[in-house]
Amino acid sequence: MELSISELRVCLQGTEILHGVDLDVADGEFVALLGQSGCGKSTLIQSVAGLLDIRSGEIRADGRSLAGVPPERRGTVIVFQNLRLFPHMTVFDNIAFSMALKKRPKAETAQVVERLLEDVQLPGYGRRRIRELSGGQMQRVALARALAAEPRLLLLDEPFSGLNEGLRDEMGRLVKKLHREKGLTTVLITHDRQEALRLADRVALMQDGRILQCGTPEEIFWRPASRAVAAYFGKINCLPGRAAGGAFSCALGTWPCPLEDGAWTAAVRPFDVRAVPGGGYTVTGIDFLGETAELTLAGPAGAVTCSVTAGALADMGLSVGSRTGLEADPGRAVYFKEEGTA
Ligand SMILES: Nc1ncnc2c1ncn2[C@@H]1O[C@H](COP(=O)(O)OP(=O)(O)OP(=O)(O)O)[C@@H](O)[C@H]1O
Ligand SMILES: [Mg+2]
Repeated sequence: MELSISELRVCLQGTEILHGVDLDVADGEFVALLGQSGCGKSTLIQSVAGLLDIRSGEIRADGRSLAGVPPERRGTVIVFQNLRLFPHMTVFDNIAFSMALKKRPKAETAQVVERLLEDVQLPGYGRRRIRELSGGQMQRVALARALAAEPRLLLLDEPFSGLNEGLRDEMGRLVKKLHREKGLTTVLITHDRQEALRLADRVALMQDGRILQCGTPEEIFWRPASRAVAAYFGKINCLPGRAAGGAFSCALGTWPCPLEDGAWTAAVRPFDVRAVPGGGYTVTGIDFLGETAELTLAGPAGAVTCSVTAGALADMGLSVGSRTGLEADPGRAVYFKEEGTA
């Protein structure tokens, strides 16, 4: 299903929660929706599913407005974080629920449920009761139940957030595999940035009821539209500076850069800052993280964070209090205009 949301405003109990959301999802696309708690992610997908009234704006499916279309006729299905399985029923009856509502023939239902159980890697689990399952197994049943409704748009509201890292990974891969095999248009809400970057064709970042940016994982990471987007995807060093005559200057140096003359801030990721021989900076902290280490340094550019591999840290021989020089990799910097200071 091709989904097109424009200028969507939604109020809950008199407060506007979505302030004009625009989002397009292509047929068969996988979009991950990220953003701080309370920014409106669940509100957005519940509006798409027809569970909330919209104040203004439009939601279209394959070019047709969904205004007035009841939830069960939208071709959408949500898997909620708390799953909402029927605990007293068997796995089979949970998955078969939507088919029973549609009065599909029993033999056909049985075949579909068997196939879905195989798809979610739970063959032979039909007779189990929900309370006899592990958390990860319940999540797979919830997924199978959603798929049994033959949605054209699958909406996943953090369904894996209660799982440990290994199972989360496995569920993510499973969803991606099912998405590919079935060509199912999918929107996944997650708090896990890496999960979003790994699984999605495009990632949308929300803040305060708006979408800040939507782009491919590479676009949103390497070409963030604002400082807020850049900061969401990991630490950044913000280096205030000036552009003049095709060069940018800041406390970490001057390099050629085709910017309009004026005040700019360069955002540089910690992995794109290097310790080099020289002075100027003092190591104020070292966080050893296993494969990598994060150094904080103080000097003319203020506090700067620099990431290195653990091996490189050992080779550098730096410790807290050491003096060093610093260089930024200009090719990886992103620039944000400083308002009103041009
Ligand atoms: N039924 C409701 N009535 C009034 N306000 C609500 C209701 N449900 C949610 N809200 C408010 O709407 C805002 C957006 O909530 P929403 O659940 O969409 O956020 P979210 O991005 O999904 O957050 P989380 O990541 O914590 O799930 C929040 O400020 C929340 O307090
Ligand atoms: Mg939510």
